Amino acid sequence: MNDLAGKHIVLGLTGGIACYKAAELCRALIKEGATVQVVMTAAAEHFITTVTMQALSQRMVYGSQWDAREPNNMPHINLSREADAILIAPCSADFMAKLLHGRADELLSLMCLARPLDKVPLLIAPAMNREMWAHPATRRNVAQLTADGATVFDVGQGDQACGETGDGRILEPQELLDDVIAFFQPKTLAGQHVLVTAGPTYEAIDPVRGITNLSSGKMGFAICRAAREAGAEVTLVAGPVSLATPRGVRRVDVRSARDMLQAVQEEAPAATVFIATAAVADWRPANAADQKIKKDGSGRTPELSFVENPDILAAVAQSPRGQSRALYCVGFAAESHDLLANAQAKRLRKGVPLLVGNIGPATFGQDDNALLLVDEVGVKDMARDTKLSLARKLIAEIAIRMRARG
Ligand code: C5P
Repeated sequence: MNDLAGKHIVLGLTGGIACYKAAELCRALIKEGATVQVVMTAAAEHFITTVTMQALSQRMVYGSQWDAREPNNMPHINLSREADAILIAPCSADFMAKLLHGRADELLSLMCLARPLDKVPLLIAPAMNREMWAHPATRRNVAQLTADGATVFDVGQGDQACGETGDGRILEPQELLDDVIAFFQPKTLAGQHVLVTAGPTYEAIDPVRGITNLSSGKMGFAICRAAREAGAEVTLVAGPVSLATPRGVRRVDVRSARDMLQAVQEEAPAATVFIATAAVADWRPANAADQKIKKDGSGRTPELSFVENPDILAAVAQSPRGQSRALYCVGFAAESHDLLANAQAKRLRKGVPLLVGNIGPATFGQDDNALLLVDEVGVKDMARDTKLSLARKLIAEIAIRMRARG
């Protein structure tokens, strides 16, 4: 992906053992298409060398406000004016305190103070010992920096370099990268609560066998990520898939269609958008055996009979909340042919304002897809692209439709 193409990030390092993770983060930002200008405090240089950061960023590293390499001798102005964001990772407790007071006695804090507030956002990735993180002074500083317009990322939890365990260590480079990418996405669903179903369901025949399908869950997980990036609170009800939960998304794991229905019914009252991407099994064995069904050597096969599963999307869409403006419902249709006609018919049958069609065999398990959006106004084609790109476009389309209906 090239999610940071065209973005210029000033990556500020302050003193902390987490500086070693900034090296990986620098690479990851560049891999996503960003250009990175590293600025290091004197304390940071105790933990990692400028040589490493220069080699990774392919730019000279700056560390002093007296650096004469800039013709006007004002690196704090020049470097901050060309940035799309200043990202301080790691940001020590001391540096947070310094930012809070608007102190500016070395290049990095000077740049943060001198940056145009409306054009250059400040992103802070704290890294410190758990006692320092929990200290009332740090709590106050986080709250005040946020009130001053900075974005303070979460911290990680677990083993710390000092040997203690708890909150305060820096997020992993990939998590920081995801948070930076999310920061730049338009917040079209801020204040919304999105509920998503994803993946297949598994319908037991006996304790060791069952019926499922080839849905990978990738489209639904991408939609969760895109909705979260767009500022929504997101709850994911996932069938059995082995995908990592997107950052900031609350996940409820289920197995059968009936489990999924129950979880969705528990979550739907809080949701304002419901997106059903799950490939729910249409039928389940009428009576799942308590014990493994054995071969008896006679060559006879077991008689399986089926009953229809509840239609989760239709149940939610036709509930009083689904019928009101409080909940916007979106269905998916995985078809093998006649996509348009099938999607239009399914939209009416399910009673949803928006139905998204895709060709099942062309999407199951793939990283890319193509979508056809069908609503009461007409049809919109989304050409083949990565599932994440399509998910972001779909979220933008949902936001437009929600705004239009008020
Ligand atoms: O009827 P069909 O399975 O083709 O409908 C697909 C849409 O309905 C998808 O959005 C799917 O998640 C949802 N669905 C559901 N519960 C079912 C069957 C489908 O929520 N039992």
